[in-house]
This record gives sequence, C-alpha cells and structure tokens, in this order.
Amino acid sequence: MDVYDAVNSRRSVRKFDGERGVGRILVEKLLRAAIRAPNAGNAQPWRFTVVYDTALKERLSEAAQGQKFVANAPVAVVVCVDLGVADKAYGQRGTELYCLQDTGAAIENLMLAACAEGLGTCWVGAFDEQAAALALGLSADVRPVAMVAIGFPASQPREKGRLELDEITEWR
Ligand SMILES: Cc1cc2nc3c(=O)[nH]c(=O)nc-3n(C[C@H](O)[C@H](O)[C@H](O)COP(=O)(O)O)c2cc1C
Repeated sequence: MDVYDAVNSRRSVRKFDGERGVGRILVEKLLRAAIRAPNAGNAQPWRFTVVYDTALKERLSEAAQGQKFVANAPVAVVVCVDLGVADKAYGQRGTELYCLQDTGAAIENLMLAACAEGLGTCWVGAFDEQAAALALGLSADVRPVAMVAIGFPASQPREKGRLELDEITEWR
C-alpha cells in the first residue's frame, strides 16, 4: 500500500473484530513506524504503554468518558510524553508545543502503518489524564496525551468529509 492509499483509506475505527487479536510482533512493527516520525531535535520525548490487559483497558475506557471501544479493542496504546526529556531539550517550548507535535506525528505514522496492515485504529483524546496516569502508574513527569485503540475492523466506516482546500488555504 503506498502512502496515498493509506492516507485516503484510513478511517477512525470504533468497532473491532473480536475474533482477531493483534499480536505483539505486529504492535512492535507499528511502534517502529511511529518512532520514525520527525521530532524536535530528535529528543524523542515519546513514551508508549501497550495495554492488552482487560481490566486495565476497562480503566482506560472509564478514564475516556466511558468510550467502550477502548475496552473492546484487542489492544490500546497509550502515547505519553516524558516532560523531563522535553524540558531538557527545549524548555517551555519543548514541554508545551514540540512534544505534542512529536507525538502527533508519531501517532499518525502508527495509524497509517496500521492501515497498511489491514488494522483499524482510533485516536482517543477525550480522557481524564489523571485517571489514565493513575491506572498506568505513570510517574509525575510523564503525561499521557493520547490513546490509540487498535484492532482488525468489524466493518469499514464511511469516509468523513473535509473542508474544501480553498476554504482553508491561502496561496501567496
Ligand atoms: C486529537 C484527537 C482527539 C480525538 N479524540 C477522539 C475521541 O476521544 N473519541 C473518538 O471516538 N474519536 C476521537 N478522535 C477521532 C476523530 O473523531 C476523527 O479523526 C474525526 O472525526 C475524523 O474522522 P476520520 O478519522 O475517520 O477521518 C480524535 C482525533 C484526534 C486527532
């Protein structure tokens, strides 16, 4: 699958095929794609927690306003930033901006790689960070910034439209 096929066919998937698990080797492949993302100064402040444990996925789902698909996904990856690493590299700009851009790029890489593997993903940003950090036992300088639910799709969701380019683009 070329990059345009992945970009254009990716959808947020919230219903997963319960019969098909996602093994560790495949998740590692996705994480290797994630960490190829550009990141400020190659400081790599991202940290990942891969969650297969059913009870833990339930707690993450509860932290995420009860979004059930987080618990129902075969695996959830919680993407975090090590604020100490981000601070050391770039101070306030590192902790408030770059580390979020770094992880955003990594997440998109992961999602496109997942798409190329026939997997579905959903980026989850609506969650209580404290509850997620508590569930995972994160240290104080590690901030969870997103969860990614991963599994084989139960069906292919419809494409969601986008604004027209001329509504959001200026050429100068
Ligand atoms: C920062 C961010 C936070 C998001 N949070 C959630 C979420 O909490 N729950 C959810 O179901 N989808 C979430 N999404 C997925 C979006 O709803 C989805 O990408 C958007 O509706 C476009 O649909 P598509 O991904 O199928 O193109 C999030 C996406 C991003 C980038």
